[in-house]
Amino acid sequence: MYWWWNGYGYGCKTGMKIYEMTDEQRIKLLLDGGYLTEGQADLLRSRQTISTDLADSLSENQIGSFSLPYGFATDFLVDGIDYLVPMVIEEPSVIAAASNAAKRIKNSGGFRTFPTSRIVYGQIVLENITQASLSRLEQASSEIFEFAQNAHPSLLKRGGGVVSLNFNYYDEFVEIELGIDTVDAMGANMVNTILEKTSQKVSTMINGDVLCSILSNSGQGQVITVEAEINFDQLSTKTMAGHEVATRIVKLSAFAKASVKRAVTHNKGIMNGIDAVLLATGNDFRAQEAAAHSFAFESGQYQPFSEWHLAEGKLVGTLKMPIELGSVGGAIRALPMAQLSLAIMKIHSSKQLQSVVGAVGLANNLSALRALVTTGIQAGHMGLQSKSLAISAGAVGTEIDLVAAKLNQTKNYTIKNAQNILLELRDK
Ligand code: HMG
Repeated sequence: MYWWWNGYGYGCKTGMKIYEMTDEQRIKLLLDGGYLTEGQADLLRSRQTISTDLADSLSENQIGSFSLPYGFATDFLVDGIDYLVPMVIEEPSVIAAASNAAKRIKNSGGFRTFPTSRIVYGQIVLENITQASLSRLEQASSEIFEFAQNAHPSLLKRGGGVVSLNFNYYDEFVEIELGIDTVDAMGANMVNTILEKTSQKVSTMINGDVLCSILSNSGQGQVITVEAEINFDQLSTKTMAGHEVATRIVKLSAFAKASVKRAVTHNKGIMNGIDAVLLATGNDFRAQEAAAHSFAFESGQYQPFSEWHLAEGKLVGTLKMPIELGSVGGAIRALPMAQLSLAIMKIHSSKQLQSVVGAVGLANNLSALRALVTTGIQAGHMGLQSKSLAISAGAVGTEIDLVAAKLNQTKNYTIKNAQNILLELRDK
């Protein structure tokens, strides 16, 4: 087997596909392509990626580590750069689906992304404040801004810091809202440090109590748009022309706008990819989930994060949503596997990571919709799930592929059927 690497992409001269290789062959491919160091390759081989000390420092009452499959999706051409995208996921077919759509999109020109900003908002909450105190604070807003700006000198040095200060009013509450550019960090700790220091200052100024100060996970300052145009010939199946597939995808996308029940599932397909990359890069996926929930309700009715339409003879998809993440700091720096993921992606900034994560969300969405309006989801999804079903039924070693193949043949994807197939196999 011979692989070529041109410093930009990768390829195989024997026709063997990445998903047909063994894990060792894939590691070798990444080594040969310059994606991994020998040390990182050994870390992967050891399958022991977190030390006791690190586990103790990251969480409490730890008694071990919990493993999930770690793989990578291929063929992501995002803003003209080719990426391999590491993903951590327990669900079969998600990485295959991401790669599948990424390839169709790459063959049509790739993803384009439009990040807006990387601002994290924080709230200093005051309760039942007197008009006199409020006026004092409003008049001192430049002084508060300057104080907050100097509350995290190292962030300032890196080119970030406070970019806005606003007063927001809600019945008995008043909120001082700070907008903070966290540069490449997700920024939760930085923002909370700035807020807590500033709230002490505010408390002194009004000689009164601050109810709380905390960042907001709304993600409103981190909204990204990702677009892809797909040629019809990239969408066809054995039994359906590409134009028809595209038209049906557009209809299903419209239904997601009309039906909340469908929109939630549509978005779940997008989160399949997004969460998997966030996990692989040591990011706080709970923050991302919270931001996504809030954004979906932005118009007052729960909406899908993406929409698909036809334009100039192509299927055009647009994903718009907040993506909250960092590429430095916290668990990202501490976890060797997170560092390894960033190395495989060759990521240099959080903006770049945001773009790739958004592209993965749109890719997973396209594959799911294409499957839903053609063969149905079970054909591809269960085809890949058959291996885990075989393992659940008790298959080991070479039995796994044999039981999985038989499950795919019978298309009866139940644990009972898998157990019967295994019994028959062992009786022979
Ligand atoms: P296929 O077209 O039958 O596969 O897709 P293929 O053998 O023709 O291969 C085409 C390409 O798919 C490959 O290109 C790979 O890029 C990729 P190649 O390299 O061969 O030139 N591919 C794979 N990549 C890695 N490992 C594999 C693999 N197989 C193909 N084993 C596939 C098969 C499963 C990809 C397709 O049927 C599909 O995308 N299905 C959708 C699966 C999906 O969305 N799964 C998510 C779980 S379901 C869910 O949770 C969300 C949902 O409810 C959301 C919603 O409702 O919107 C569905």
